[in-house]
Amino acid sequence: MLTGGILVGAAGTLLTVLMCKAMNRSLANVLIGSFGGSKTGSAIIGEQGSYKEISLNDAAVVMSYANKVMIVPGYGLAVAQAQHACHELEKLLESKGVDVKYAIHPVAGRMPGHMNVLLAESDVPYEKLLEMELANNEFATTDVVLILGANDVVNPAAKSDSASPIYGMPVLDVELAKTVIVNKRSMKPGYAGIENDLFFRPKTSMLFGDAKKVLQDLVGAIKAL
Ligand code: TAP
Repeated sequence: MLTGGILVGAAGTLLTVLMCKAMNRSLANVLIGSFGGSKTGSAIIGEQGSYKEISLNDAAVVMSYANKVMIVPGYGLAVAQAQHACHELEKLLESKGVDVKYAIHPVAGRMPGHMNVLLAESDVPYEKLLEMELANNEFATTDVVLILGANDVVNPAAKSDSASPIYGMPVLDVELAKTVIVNKRSMKPGYAGIENDLFFRPKTSMLFGDAKKVLQDLVGAIKAL
């Protein structure tokens, strides 16, 4: 039991250190500090301006006629248990000749490897999952990025706003793609508690709703095209 305890403790410590590295925060900062709640910089709720929405049918058309679609899964995909619907959408788009891949951020979700485990559950082929660095090399040649319940891991403030609590955390460069579609239920922030300027950019459109329902409806809309 003692050996088992030591092994579990060591594995937990290692994972915690890896998580801190991926979030660009020190262990002390993670243990005693808090994310969000900052009223400095541009990360204040409601100050960003207006955003635009995309209809389900328009999103279906844009993705069906794309050459390359990159799916960015986040915590919301896990909450919605939408991994199977997501895989269905991926297979449907691929059957139409669209190249579909997934961009996996190391701290997307709430535990290390969360997105890998989630997508493996629905039999998404492993080679379709791109680690952050590889994915970041591909966004510039991506037609559509479909963000599913991710927020902090695609927040450009991490690169540009030194007052942001997530400043310095490596993020996915989704804004380099031609079109960005964001699925979430509202304009509420994610784990860090801060607003995301990406949602207000000209290339971004919001597709509101629970991830599972939206994905199921998207599959239906694409089949009906
Ligand atoms: P978050 O930034 O937490 O954003 C998740 C988003 O999902 C929310 O903005 C939420 O918006 C949306 N959402 C929730 N339920 C949904 C649903 N049913 N359908 C559609 N969308 C839904 O997630 P992320 O981008 O994955 O980033 C992870 C965060 O957790 C990072 O800040 C990271 O540092 C932190 N963290 C990660 C770990 C590890 S190791 N993964 C551990 C601790 C902390 P709505 O409410 O508007 O829907």
